[in-house]
Amino acid sequence: MTRPRNDTLLRALLREPVEYTPLWLMRQAGRYLPEYCETRKRAGSFMALCKSPQLACEVTLQPLARYDLDAAILFSDILTVPDAMGLGLYFAEGEGPKFERPLRDEWEIRNLAAPDPHDELRYVIDAVAEIRRALDGSVPLIGFSGSPYTLACYMIEGGASDDFRRIKTMLYDRPDLLHHVLGVTAQAVTAYLNAQIGAGAQAVQIFDTWGGSLSHAAYREFSLAYMQEIIAGLTRTHDGERIPVIVFTKGGGLWLEDIAASGCDAVGLDWTIDIGQARARVGKRVALQGNLDPSILFAGPDVVAIEARKVLHSFGPGSGHVFNLGHGISQFTPPEIVTALVETVRVESRSFHGPQSPA
Ligand code: CP3
Repeated sequence: MTRPRNDTLLRALLREPVEYTPLWLMRQAGRYLPEYCETRKRAGSFMALCKSPQLACEVTLQPLARYDLDAAILFSDILTVPDAMGLGLYFAEGEGPKFERPLRDEWEIRNLAAPDPHDELRYVIDAVAEIRRALDGSVPLIGFSGSPYTLACYMIEGGASDDFRRIKTMLYDRPDLLHHVLGVTAQAVTAYLNAQIGAGAQAVQIFDTWGGSLSHAAYREFSLAYMQEIIAGLTRTHDGERIPVIVFTKGGGLWLEDIAASGCDAVGLDWTIDIGQARARVGKRVALQGNLDPSILFAGPDVVAIEARKVLHSFGPGSGHVFNLGHGISQFTPPEIVTALVETVRVESRSFHGPQSPA
C-alpha cells in the first residue's frame, strides 16, 4: 500500500472524508511560470522537454515548489500518442501543434496501429517513474491522456481547427472510417494509461477538450462511448490502491449524467455550469472537479478570493470536490495570483469538512 503522505486528492476523488478541499490546476506546469520558460529554453523545444524524463520531471515539480498544491500532474502532452502512431508531431511557433502526416486517405486510416507504450512512448513512462521517485511519497501523481475523439480532431484536421470541418465531414459521410480511427486510438490510450499506472501514476485524467463541439447524439457515439471503453479496460487497482479516473469533457455540462455513468470516479467541469447544480444532478455517484473560470486569475487577489469562495459555497459541505480551474491555466496568468487562490481554498474550505459537516 503506497498512499502518499498527502492523500487528500485521492480521498476526495473517491468521496472519502477530507480535512479541506484539495486543489491542483490543469496545465499547472506551463508558460506562466518563468522557471518553466527557462527549462524549456534549456531543452531547446517543447518536444525535447517532453522527451527528456529528467527535464519533464523538473518542470512537473516546479509548481509544487511554489504553491501548496495537492497533486503533481505528469508533464507531457496529449499529442504524444498520435506522434507515436507515426503522424509526426511538431509545434510551429505561434501556431500550436501540427502533424506532418495527418490522416487524410482511407489507406492511412486502415494502416493505423496502436503503439506499444513501453517502446514508442518509453520516454513518458520513464518520466512517470522518475517523477514518482522525486515526489518521494509527498503528493499523488496524476497521469493523463487525450480522449480518442479529441486526439482524432488533431489527427484528422492536422492541427488546431475553428470548425472541425474535416473530422465532422468524416463523421457524417464516413462514420465507419472515424469509428476505425477511434477504436484504434482507444486501444492505444488504454495501453498508454495502464503503462502510466504501472509506472506509478496514482490517478488518471482523460482530457476530452473537443467532445463539447459535438451534437448530443454524436457526443455519445463518437466521444463518450470510447472513453467508456477505455475506462472499462483500465487497471483500477495498483499496489493495493484504487486508481481514480477523472473524465473532463469541456462543454460537457449538458451531458453530466451520462458522463457520470461512464464508469469514472470523478467528472471535471468547465466554468459554464454551477457546481452545486451539477452536484445535485450526479448525487453520490461521482466526485466533481472544478470549476473556476481561468480568466478570473487576470483579476486582483480580492476578486479571486471572492470567486473561489463562491465555488466552494456552491459545492457545499462534504467530500467529493476537487478544486480546479474550468480549463488550463493561461500563459498570461501572473504567478503571484495563484498563491492567493491556493491559500483561499486551503484555508476557507476547512469549514466545509470535518465532523460537523454531512458527508
Ligand atoms: O497540466 C499539466 O501541467 C500537464 C501538462 C499538459 C500539457 N498539455 C503541457 C503543454 C497537459 C495535460 C496538456 C494537455 C493538452 N495538450 C490538451 C488537453 C487539455 C486542454 O488544454 O484542453 C490539448 C488540447 C493539448 C494540445 C496542445 N499542446 C496545445 C493546444 C498546445 C498549446 C499550443 C500553443 O502554442 O499555445 C500544446 C502545447 C503545450 N502542452 C504547452 C504545455 C505547457 C505549451 C507549449 C510550450 O511550452 O510552448
